[in-house]
Amino acid sequence: MSIKFEVLHTCKQSGARLGRLTTPHGVFETPFFMPVGTQATVKTLTPEEIKEVSEGLILGNTYHLWLQPGADIVKAHGGIRGFMKWDGALLTDSGGFQVFSLSKTRKITEEGVHFKHHKNGSDLFMSPEDSIRVQEDLGADIIMSFDECPPPYETYDYMKDSVDRTLRWAKRGKVALTTDQALFGIVQGGLNKELRKYSAEELMKMDFPGYSIGGLSVGETKEEMYDMTKFLNPILPFDKPRYLMGVGSPDDLVENVINGIDMFDCVLPTRIARHGTALTTQGKVVIKNATYEKDYETLDPGLQTHVSKYTRSYIRHLFKGNEILGMRLVTYQNLAYLKHLMTEIRKAIKEDRLLDFKEEMKKNTNYFKT
Ligand code: GUN
Repeated sequence: MSIKFEVLHTCKQSGARLGRLTTPHGVFETPFFMPVGTQATVKTLTPEEIKEVSEGLILGNTYHLWLQPGADIVKAHGGIRGFMKWDGALLTDSGGFQVFSLSKTRKITEEGVHFKHHKNGSDLFMSPEDSIRVQEDLGADIIMSFDECPPPYETYDYMKDSVDRTLRWAKRGKVALTTDQALFGIVQGGLNKELRKYSAEELMKMDFPGYSIGGLSVGETKEEMYDMTKFLNPILPFDKPRYLMGVGSPDDLVENVINGIDMFDCVLPTRIARHGTALTTQGKVVIKNATYEKDYETLDPGLQTHVSKYTRSYIRHLFKGNEILGMRLVTYQNLAYLKHLMTEIRKAIKEDRLLDFKEEMKKNTNYFKT
C-alpha cells in the first residue's frame, strides 16, 4: 500500500483527530484541506503559488481530463503531476460525481453510466473499470472508487438500490486496480442513517486504505450534514483516513473536524474568489461592495502574504475593471486563509481546545452566521 496513516492525538475537548498521512509525494499532518485543480490547474495560480498556499496536496478530476485533453496525453506527460508540473501529492476523484452533476441526460446500468458530454452532447459511457484505468493514467497518489451520488431526498428504495450498486462498483474497481495507488471507498446513502451505516460497513469489509464520505453538501442543511458525519464517526475505522468530499467553507471545516474528518476538498474558496469574495481571518469580505472603495487597509490584516501589500481599494478597483490580477490575488488569499485555518485547527487539537477555538471563531468572524 502506497500510503500510511497514523492518528497522533485526539483532542480531549472535542474528540477531533490529529494525524499524519504519508504519501509517495509528501508527509502531511491531518486534518488538511486540498485545493481543487479540476483541469490540471488550480484556476489562476502557478504550481509555485499553489505550493505556497496549500499543504502540498491537491485534487484533480478524472471526468474533465478524460474528456479533455484525454488520458493518453496526460499519461504521456507522466500523469497530472508531469502535465501541470506539480511536484506535490495528488488525489483524483473518480468521475462519478461529475457524471451526475454536469451531465443532464444519463442512464445508469449495472455496467456503468451512459451520459452525454456536458458541452458537445456526444454519447459517452463510463464504467468503474474505466474510471480506475483513467485514474491509473492520471497517476495520483490517492484515487476514488466510481460511485453514484444521488440527490439527498430520493426515496428509500432508490437509495438502497443505488448504495448496493455503488458497493458492487467499489468491489469491481478494487479488482481492476493494477497499481499501488491508494484506492478509497466512498460511503453513500443520502440522509438515511441505516443505509449510511450499511454502506460504511460493507466497504470496510472490502478493506480500503481510506474512506470517503460522498453525497453531502448537495442540498441538505448544514445540520443534516454535521449530524451525518457525527453519526459515521464511531462507525468508520479509527486508524484509516476519512475524507469528506466537496466540503470546505470555514464553518463546515471546523464542525466536521470535530466530527472526526481528516481530509477535505472544495471548489468554494477558489470559485468565490473569482467572483470577488475573500475569506480572511476577520471573516468574509465581498470586495466589490462600495464600502471598500476608499478602504486603504490590506485585504486581511491578520495574515501576511504577498497580497498584503495591496489595499482593499485597489483590489476592488481590479474587480470593477474585470482585471485578471484581482481574481489571482483573491484566489491566493482564500487558499492562504484556509491553510492558516487548518494550521490553527491542528494546533487547537494538539492543545485540547478545539471547542474553545470554534467559539472564538464564532465571536470574531461572520462564518457561522447564516
Ligand atoms: N465530490 C463531492 N461529493 C462527491 C461524491 O458523492 N462522490 C464523488 N465521487 N465525488 C464527490
